[in-house]
Amino acid sequence: MLPTRSFGLREAMARPPSPIQIGIVGLAVLLAVAIFGVAVVVERFGDAPLFLFAVPLALASIGWGLRGGMVLGVLTSLLAGAWWVERSYPGGGAWLSSRVFTCLLIGLLLGWFAESRHRLMRAIAHHRECSLDLIATANFDGYFTAVNPAFTRTLGFTAEELLSAPFTDFVHPDDVEPTIAAIVKQTEQGRDVFNFQNRYRTKDGSYRWLEWMSSPDPIGRELIAVARDVTDRKQLEELEHEYKQRLENNVRERTKELNRRNAELEEARRETLYRLALAAEYRDDDTFKHTERIRNSAALLAAELGLTESDVALMRDAAPLHDIGKLGVSDAVLLKPGKLTADEFEHVRWHAELGARILSGSSSHALQAGEEIARSHHEWWDGMGYPAGLRGEEIPLFGRIVAVADVFDALTHERPYKPAWPVDEAAKEIRRLRGLQFDPQVVDAFERLDPYLLAVIAHPHDVPRAASRHTWAA
Ligand SMILES: [Fe+2]
Repeated sequence: MLPTRSFGLREAMARPPSPIQIGIVGLAVLLAVAIFGVAVVVERFGDAPLFLFAVPLALASIGWGLRGGMVLGVLTSLLAGAWWVERSYPGGGAWLSSRVFTCLLIGLLLGWFAESRHRLMRAIAHHRECSLDLIATANFDGYFTAVNPAFTRTLGFTAEELLSAPFTDFVHPDDVEPTIAAIVKQTEQGRDVFNFQNRYRTKDGSYRWLEWMSSPDPIGRELIAVARDVTDRKQLEELEHEYKQRLENNVRERTKELNRRNAELEEARRETLYRLALAAEYRDDDTFKHTERIRNSAALLAAELGLTESDVALMRDAAPLHDIGKLGVSDAVLLKPGKLTADEFEHVRWHAELGARILSGSSSHALQAGEEIARSHHEWWDGMGYPAGLRGEEIPLFGRIVAVADVFDALTHERPYKPAWPVDEAAKEIRRLRGLQFDPQVVDAFERLDPYLLAVIAHPHDVPRAASRHTWAA
């Protein structure tokens, strides 16, 4: 059986004195008497042998602490007194009192020092014995040299079992490599290890998570380590991790579902707006192409003017609604092939305000933009338009853009009251009205684009490659 070291109270000095302590004190007494005998027998040495009383005094102090020191202090004082009497009182009372005082003082001091040291050792042993932390020392060869009771309690092995094999034999196979790395860090680099975690096998074959703090002692070639059982904490962390993973997966799935539903709702919203615009267009153009062309040409103009992608997308949704107010214009007027009377013309003009009212009050950005466009797409840059007679930048930008797109499309396509204009003629008319009916900047953007392209686009697929530099995806 390998020798083991215990940090318990049993090996600390305790009262009453152990046989060893009694033996040491007895030896000290014999030594003191022997010194006295030499001093009596050998007269030529005078009192010099009595100085050797320091040896039994120290021996008794180490063996039995303060009490051993005091016992020997009294004994050596008496022996010194006997020697003094036997030699007929040399040096008078001063000699005797100084020897007695010295013997008692040495016994007191050495005894007090030894007692303090014993008390300190008992305290250290007690703390190690009672510690809930696992305390161990190990040599540089990879063996434990001492373990405290918490260690054996936690793992279920006896101290002898733990000290009989390399400690890596108890480490989980997956943790052996990092454990050896941590040992090398200490033994070869002399560095401390903090919060190192590994799993140790218990007697029943399960594993416990230990968290270590360890420091090397290069002189003693020893590692001094303190560990704490953090198995419960690790299990909670693993549960928390699993819970978070499940939660994240759920959130991811829900977000995916939400995005899918949002996309469906967005598509339904676009479809509804578009069909609403078609309903209005159907009144005077059963080809439905006008709405589609306005949507695309207004978006192209908006992009050419440098509007953001989201505003361009908003324009695509809102521009088709510009004539929604035509739902309230009678067929007799709307489809009249000839020239309109003043009242009929006023009736037609009402579609701008009516369209805005139809779309008003919505929280939807597209409907809000549609309301703005419906109300302002017949306003003129010079203030001669309707319904409010706004001028210049008083007219919302979306309305100014749709105004150009709408008129150009109306000119280049046949209507009940007029034939289609050639594209060049229509483009010339747009230029002529620059600064009059139309915002000069919008006309400039119009001119930078291909008028033939604007005249025919009814669908993004109709856009020639060279002209399709803007994003058409809604
Ligand atoms: Fe209109």
